[in-house]
Amino acid sequence: MNVTVTGAGGQIGYALLFRLASGQLLGPDTPINLRLLEIPQGLAAAEGTALELADCAFGLLASTTITDDLTQAFDGVNVALLVGSRPRAAGMERADLLAANGRIFGPQGAAINAGAASDVRVLVVGNPANTNALIARSHAPDVPADRFTAMTRLDHNRAVAQLAAHFDVSVTAIEGVAIWGNHSASQYPDVFHATVRLKSGERCFVRDLVDERWLAAEFIPRVAQRGSEIIAVRGASSAASAAGAALDHVHDWANSTPSGAGQWTSAAVVSDGSYGVPEGLISSFPVRSVAGHWRIEPGLEIAEFSRARIDASVAELVAERDAVAALGLLATQ
Ligand code: NAD
Ligand code: LMR
Repeated sequence: MNVTVTGAGGQIGYALLFRLASGQLLGPDTPINLRLLEIPQGLAAAEGTALELADCAFGLLASTTITDDLTQAFDGVNVALLVGSRPRAAGMERADLLAANGRIFGPQGAAINAGAASDVRVLVVGNPANTNALIARSHAPDVPADRFTAMTRLDHNRAVAQLAAHFDVSVTAIEGVAIWGNHSASQYPDVFHATVRLKSGERCFVRDLVDERWLAAEFIPRVAQRGSEIIAVRGASSAASAAGAALDHVHDWANSTPSGAGQWTSAAVVSDGSYGVPEGLISSFPVRSVAGHWRIEPGLEIAEFSRARIDASVAELVAERDAVAALGLLATQ
C-alpha cells in the first residue's frame, strides 16, 4: 500500500511515522511504501525522520520517498494523511488558520484527483480540518466524495477518556459517545446515547448518572477546549495523541468497527443530509466502518439539549465554507 504523509517533518509526523511503519495503521501483514511530502524548508527534518525510520529496520516498510512534489507524493496513493499545515499558537482560534492553511489543500486535492489509486482514503488532520477536507474534496471531482474525511477521532478519544476518569473506570467501559460538527471549540461531544460499565459490573446510561449542568459547565468545555489546554500546558499543539487518533481512524476505516449497540466511533465525513446537517458539508457524526466505508449511524434520537449544540457547530461549518468560497478556495463544479 502506498501511504502518503504530508507535513512529515513536523511534530505529528514524528509521532506518527514510527507507529505507522510498525503496522499500527494497516495491520501487521501489509507492507507500506511511504511517501513523505514536505515544503522545501521542511525537507531536512523529513530526511532526518527517514534516517531514523531506516534505523528501526521495520519489516513492513518497503520504501521511503521524500519529496516536495505533489505529483510524486500522490501518484498511486492508497492512504493519504494530510497533516502538513500550520498549527494554532496560543491565543489563536482555528478560524485564524482558514486562509493560511486553506491554500494548501486545493492543490493537494487536485493531485489526489490526478494520481491516486481508485481505493484512495484521505484523512485531513491539518486545521481547520473539516474545511480543509472540503477544499481538497472540491478539487477532486473524480474521487468518490466519501473518500474525503477529517479527523475528530481525537475529540472522540478525549471524550471517552474524560468520562472514564469521571466514573473511575477503564476507557473500555465507555461506549456510545459521539462527536458532532466541527473539530473546533464549537464541537458537540454527545453522551446522550453513551453507556458506562460501572465497577459493580452494571451497564448504565451516562445520561442517568450526570446532570445537564455538569455536561454544559464541565464535560463539554473540557473536551471541546482540550486542544487549547494542551497548547497552554505543553507550549505546542497536541502531537502524540493526534497521531494516535489518526492511526485509529484509518485502522478502523480499513478494518471495520464492531456491530454491537453503541459501538460506533466519530469521524468527520461528507454529510448526506442526515440529522439536518446540510448535504456536502464535512461534519463529524457517529459512524461505523462497514465493508471499508464509513456509515453515519442512523436513527439516533436527538435531545433538545443536543439539537441546539449540533446546530451551532454546523452553523460554524457553514460559515467556514462560505468564507473559503469567498476566498476562491473551493473549486466550482
Ligand atoms: P508542525 O508545525 O510541527 O508541522 C507541520 C509540518 O507541515 C511542517 O514540517 C511544515 O513544513 C509542513 N507543511 C507546511 N505546509 C505544507 C505543505 N503545503 N505541504 C506539506 N507539508 C507542509 O505542526 P503539527 O503539530 O505537526 O500539526 C500539523 C497540523 O495538524 C496543524 O494544522 C495542527 O493544528 C493540526 N492538528 C490537528 C488535530 C486534529 O485533531 N484534527 C490535532 C492536532 C493537530
Ligand atoms: C487539537 O485539538 O489538539 C488540535 O486541533 C490543535 C488545536 O489547535 O487545538
